[in-house]
Amino acid sequence: MEKIEVGYMDCLKETFTTMGRSGLLLVSVSQQEKPNVMTIGWGTVGIVWAKPMFIVLVRPSRFTYGLIEETGDFTVNVPPLEISEKVSFCGTVSGREHDKFVEQKLTTIPAKKVKSPLIEECLIHYECKVVHKNDVLPPELASDIPPAFYPQGDYHRVFYGEIMRVCAARDIKRHE
Ligand SMILES: Cc1cc2nc3c(=O)[nH]c(=O)nc-3n(C[C@H](O)[C@H](O)[C@H](O)COP(=O)(O)O)c2cc1C
Repeated sequence: MEKIEVGYMDCLKETFTTMGRSGLLLVSVSQQEKPNVMTIGWGTVGIVWAKPMFIVLVRPSRFTYGLIEETGDFTVNVPPLEISEKVSFCGTVSGREHDKFVEQKLTTIPAKKVKSPLIEECLIHYECKVVHKNDVLPPELASDIPPAFYPQGDYHRVFYGEIMRVCAARDIKRHE
């Protein structure tokens, strides 16, 4: 699929629609360069410290958490509807026990600005470098956030990923 470089605001509608529908695919990589992919349903894009930012929330229990801590970057990939079953799989099994790229026949392609690779089968790719992180603090959560989000106390870490590069399928609008 041919991809072209775009601005970070050019595909937000497609990105958020997919995030709310199937989820997005977050890729991180170990220091030995073995990639892992997990599904994310929470996150946002905005401007912080005058930089474009993709902010994601990852629970400490995820294998991905340690990888992002190790290498300090990640990519967010927007899947087409047709691979929703693969997205669901990547959100239910862990890279500790599974090579999700091999099992789901997903193809990595190198990113240009970060070590974590991109997923060829996806439509939009955000390359992100971690510039800050903080943890969700239980006492600071509003009372209307259901405790059911945290039955095991697995409070998210919030990673601020500076968006270094975005590319998208040339015919992205066809997939809406
Ligand atoms: C639709 C969907 C959205 C998800 N969103 C998140 C998320 O935003 N943050 C998170 O920590 N886990 C989220 N998960 C759960 C992880 O994707 C799941 O635990 C995954 O197996 C972790 O993989 P890993 O251990 O290889 O990192 C989501 C799962 C699904 C199915």
